[in-house]
Amino acid sequence: MAGKVSLGGIALITGASAASGIGKETALSFAEAGAKGVALADINEEGALAAAEESKKCAKDASFKAIAVKVDITDETSVDNMVQTALKEFGRIDYSVNSAGMGNLSGAMTPNIKADMFSRTLDTNIRGTMLCVRAVSKAMAAQEPLSYESRRFGTRSLGRGSIVNLGSVNSYVAAPGMMPYTASKHAIVGITKTAALDLLSSHIGVNSVCPAWVNTPMMEASLERVPQLDAVIKAVSPLKRAAVPEEVVDYIIFLCSPSGSYINGTGLIADAGATLMMHT
Ligand SMILES: NC(=O)c1ccc[n+]([C@@H]2O[C@H](COP(=O)([O-])OP(=O)(O)OC[C@H]3O[C@@H](n4cnc5c(N)ncnc54)[C@H](O)[C@@H]3O)[C@@H](O)[C@H]2O)c1
Repeated sequence: MAGKVSLGGIALITGASAASGIGKETALSFAEAGAKGVALADINEEGALAAAEESKKCAKDASFKAIAVKVDITDETSVDNMVQTALKEFGRIDYSVNSAGMGNLSGAMTPNIKADMFSRTLDTNIRGTMLCVRAVSKAMAAQEPLSYESRRFGTRSLGRGSIVNLGSVNSYVAAPGMMPYTASKHAIVGITKTAALDLLSSHIGVNSVCPAWVNTPMMEASLERVPQLDAVIKAVSPLKRAAVPEEVVDYIIFLCSPSGSYINGTGLIADAGATLMMHT
């Protein structure tokens, strides 16, 4: 899809390390789609640097620049520094993709949930996303809007920026032993909807993309912890497989592109239909 979409602009992506799945592929796809610059932010600085180098090889724009930023999204100062670093380098941020997050590390059923694990998951996935949305929306609100020239419909404003948060099918449905992750991903929808409303007057779009299983290091770690997951994916997914990262990233690019200019506050499920029916 990146080949079909043409974008200018600057993207800031969290969870974008060579050792990550969706964040890294998002950075490469922005480069392929013609972005002028990408800031790749991750707690794994070396990984972000390596992914930044990889993105340069995909770039369509001859003047494309990529920078790596070390960030801990749970830390306010670190998140504010990440946004300031991107602004200092590029002058504006048009697309912000919040992909940093942690999976369901324990699998404990409700009576045995460890409060520490619960807090850690919420801290990373909820507070981390909120801090990123807060900092980046402040920066976007201060910049000039962009517009798009449609061949048949004339000029339309694209607003001051587009924010995409990574939810999950667990933003909508539950799974046994997954309360920390499921609660955290339900909250992503709440963050997305509220921020979309709060930012209407600044004309900043906020959406979330909510995939089922995606073949990334996070899924590989889950398969190592729970080997029977492979059979579950084959049984539950209508396509009998997990998504490849590109199938999720295409939605992210779409939401950031002029094609997504009338979409706001939504949670776009990408699950091949897995959550449409009860599995008996
Ligand atoms: N892979 C899936 O099956 C799947 C399904 C649905 C939703 N998601 C969501 O998509 C997003 C990306 O998932 P992925 O599969 O690419 O994960 P991943 O584990 O491959 O990558 C996550 C990245 O986030 C970074 N990170 C973690 N904590 C951080 C912190 N505190 N500060 C900064 N960076 C931090 C990691 O270093 C890593 O590079 C996550 O929010 C995840 O919940 C993934």
